[in-house]
Amino acid sequence: MKSLVIRYISAFVLRGTVVSFMVLAPGMAAAATGPEEHSTSDPAMSSMMDPDQLLLSSRVFLGRLPAAMPGSQNDTPERIALGKRLYFERGISTHKNQACHDCHLLTEGRAGTDHTPTSKGTIGEFGKRNSPTVINAGFQFAQFWDGRSPDLVDQAKGPVLNPIEMGMKTPMEVMDRLRGIEGYAEAFQRAFPNDPQPMTYDNMAVAIAAFERTLIAPGRFDKYLAGEEDAITEQEKMGLMAFMDHGCVDCHTGVTVGGQLYRKIGVRHALAGNEDVGRYEVTKNEEDRFVFKVPMLRNITRTGPYFHDGKIPTLSGAVHLMGQLQLGLELHPGDTADLVAFLGTLEGNPPPVQE
Ligand code: HEC
Ligand code: HEC
Repeated sequence: MKSLVIRYISAFVLRGTVVSFMVLAPGMAAAATGPEEHSTSDPAMSSMMDPDQLLLSSRVFLGRLPAAMPGSQNDTPERIALGKRLYFERGISTHKNQACHDCHLLTEGRAGTDHTPTSKGTIGEFGKRNSPTVINAGFQFAQFWDGRSPDLVDQAKGPVLNPIEMGMKTPMEVMDRLRGIEGYAEAFQRAFPNDPQPMTYDNMAVAIAAFERTLIAPGRFDKYLAGEEDAITEQEKMGLMAFMDHGCVDCHTGVTVGGQLYRKIGVRHALAGNEDVGRYEVTKNEEDRFVFKVPMLRNITRTGPYFHDGKIPTLSGAVHLMGQLQLGLELHPGDTADLVAFLGTLEGNPPPVQE
């Protein structure tokens, strides 16, 4: 009989401290299960799902998106308005053909990405990584697939000067371009009223980050966490349970369901054909070879293709591969379908943005 009674969640990371503990479903005897036996599609399993326990674990290990992002204390409407204009500004790319919004689309259904494996930049060359979503991004502990940037402000200084992305040569060249476009001098003034020299590259990044911090998008999952049990379906709950039981949550943890720690891709089996060494490039530590930021899974149903190289076209493919590579599990197709259903509850729209 398939009994899955131990919810063992190791390596839960809370403010950098690793805590391990066990959640034991009440009234059930502890029994070990072989990895291949996990299947939440089994009708026997649903009777074992303790709804209170599931909700409690979800609140502890995942959690609702807060109403405001860290660092947003000084985000005035003027600063956000400037940041939004800059986010759509193609004038700050070499050939005036590329803005943040060209790779991180906020039009309906685009969910902050460009839906291509890797993105084409201002000179028509492709980068090596898939563009992640900007929606909810500021809740993560670091930015970029390899975490090389600590926050949104620092991150925003990168793409403009990246030779493949927007391709500008120096911060000065960027500011000269902006000075030449009507309205920016006044907009910087309004956004940074106490600054004697408001038109700086750093302030540009601060304003873009202020705009990005408005891109908060809770979903049905947050309603469920708030106590609306019916906000997610039975199948989605099965998927949520599978997410906990299989240990997806060990890595994809916190309110963004990921984006809170670094892990190797290929814990059990290497990712075939992968040459991107990830965090090793940043730290040059041998143990960081193939280590990436565990991506957040908020809006994951809408941000394909998947993985850092965008080589996995479907979400069920990505989930199946996760089982194999990270957990040494051959997920049952029903299990994969449940997991994908659960991930759908993480869809959410930020407040509408018009250019
Ligand atoms: C040519 C396409 C392109 C343009 C233009 C671009 N980005 Fe990106 N963006 C990417 C790619 C690709 C990555 C991932 C790169 C990596 O991790 O090495 C990324 C990463 C990010 C991240 C990190 C998200 C995360 O979860 O780690 C943020 C935030 C972001 N971009 C915002 C911006 C902003 C703001 C601008 C404009 C100033 C911008 N991007 C311009 C393609 C682009
Ligand atoms: C040991 C840590 C770990 C575990 C366990 C794990 N993941 Fe991941 N997951 C990662 C890392 C790291 C990546 C980034 C892989 C890459 O891009 O190369 C990732 C990527 C993903 C992606 C693609 C995200 C994107 O933006 O392209 C999905 C979906 C995903 N995981 C779902 C799951 C599910 C479902 C489970 C459980 C069956 C799971 N993961 C278990 C670490 C983990």
